[in-house]
Order: sequence, then C-alpha cells, then structure tokens
Amino acid sequence: MSMFAFLALCDTDKAALAAAHPSPMRAARPLVMSRVLDAVIARLGCSRSEVARGAELGCGSGRLCRLAAQLLPGAEIVGVDASPYMVAWANVGELAAPDEVVGGGRLSFRAGLGEATGLEAGTFDFVMVPFVAHELPHSARLAFLAEANRLLRPGGVVAFVDHRQDGLEHVIFHRLKGAAPLLGDAFHWLLNVGAPEPFIREYHEHLMQDSFREAGFEGGERSGFVDVTRWQQAMLATKPR
Ligand SMILES: C[S@@+](CC[C@H](N)C(=O)[O-])C[C@H]1O[C@@H](n2cnc3c(N)ncnc32)[C@H](O)[C@@H]1O
Repeated sequence: MSMFAFLALCDTDKAALAAAHPSPMRAARPLVMSRVLDAVIARLGCSRSEVARGAELGCGSGRLCRLAAQLLPGAEIVGVDASPYMVAWANVGELAAPDEVVGGGRLSFRAGLGEATGLEAGTFDFVMVPFVAHELPHSARLAFLAEANRLLRPGGVVAFVDHRQDGLEHVIFHRLKGAAPLLGDAFHWLLNVGAPEPFIREYHEHLMQDSFREAGFEGGERSGFVDVTRWQQAMLATKPR
C-alpha cells in the first residue's frame, strides 16, 4: 500500500465528518450529475447505455466518476487528478460507494495533470471537468481544453461544470470592465470579498464560450449551456467531426 493510500485510509476525521453532516450540496450531487450526463447524452445523440468511455479531469475524491459509472451502465470511466492523495482517496472508495461499481473494472483513477493526462487520444465519448475551471488560471483552462480535444473522438463532448458566468452581476462586471476598468475591478472585488480563490477573477473575465471557440470546439454557445442548480451550469461543446 502506498503512503498516500495509507494516509487516505487514516483520514477518519474527514470520513466521520462527512457521514455526520450530510450537506444539501452532497445530497444534490446525484441530481447534478444526472443533469450533466443528460446534457452530454443529448449532445452525443445516444442513450445512456451506449456511452462507451468517459474521463474526468480533476476528479478529486472520485465522487462524480462513481456517479457517472452508476448512471452509464456500459461505460468505462477514468478519473485523473494532480493530487496523488486525492487519487488514493478515490481508490479507497468514497463513503457508501457501492462496491460492485468499484470492483466492476469500469472505474479507474490515476494521478496526472488535466493538461497532459497521458491517456490514449481519440478514444473518449466525453470528457468532463466539474468544479475545477474556477480554480485554474486562464492559460491552464485552455490547456485542459486542448487535452480534452486530444482525448475525444470526433463528435465527442466536453462538459465543464462550474459557477455560472451569466448572472446579472456578471453582466454588470463585464459592462463596467469595458467602460471603466477600475470600476470593474472594484465591483468584482466587492462581489468576491472573502472568496479564497486566487483565480476567480480570471474565471469570470474569460467566458467559457470564448474558451471553447479558442480551443477549436464547436457548438459551445452560452444559449446551449444547461443550468444544473441555481448557481451552477454545465457548459458543453463538441469536437468537430
Ligand atoms: C474542487 S476539486 C473538484 C473535484 C471533482 N471534480 C468534484 O467535483 O468532486 C478540484 C480538483 O482539481 C484538482 N486539480 C487542480 N489542478 C489540477 C490539474 N492541473 N490537473 C489535474 N487536477 C487538478 C485538485 O487536485 C482537486 O482535486
């Protein structure tokens, strides 16, 4: 057993805390994931059982990979995360994860960068990047998109899930930024006081639909994005055939 796996197993505080305090966010995960996958499938134009292979870049504890494996009965799901600790935690198995999914050989996790996974090119039906983009500098977001483009088969779908970028506050931010950059800065700072996210400004500044276009995807218009909760959107685009 690796040191990281040992540490993850010893993380009883985290496990006990999560079990003792099931949060509304935690309870909503299956619904969120189901909406994301429905949006992916609608774009792929197939049924859930026809999806063969999916990847998650920045998979953390693997919670969403597990849900994807449950919701897509025939799919192999590969989770990649930069943190070997998180990969060990994912391999140990999230709390209350059904053993049959973990043991079914359809789910695997590996340490690696979302920018350069080392996975086989052109073999994935979808690549999802949930709740990572707002933590990345813009250059890294583009590198994730380039890697997703490499991994996807033609017609495959990339799905980012993150804070929405089209609320009234974002519209005001972009208008102010265009007219009076200092006012835009001040408005953004006020909105995000206390947010411990070093790249949140870059996340709001660069719209996902522009990043999709820059990375060579098609159909990544904001009008096609799907609300998964009041605050979060699935933002999808397709690799050209
Ligand atoms: C907020 S967590 C999201 C985890 C997971 N997607 C989820 O929704 O449960 C962000 C994860 O991204 C990973 N991460 C950050 N930068 C990364 C990179 N360049 N390549 C791969 N993973 C990265 C972190 O280690 C962390 O586990």
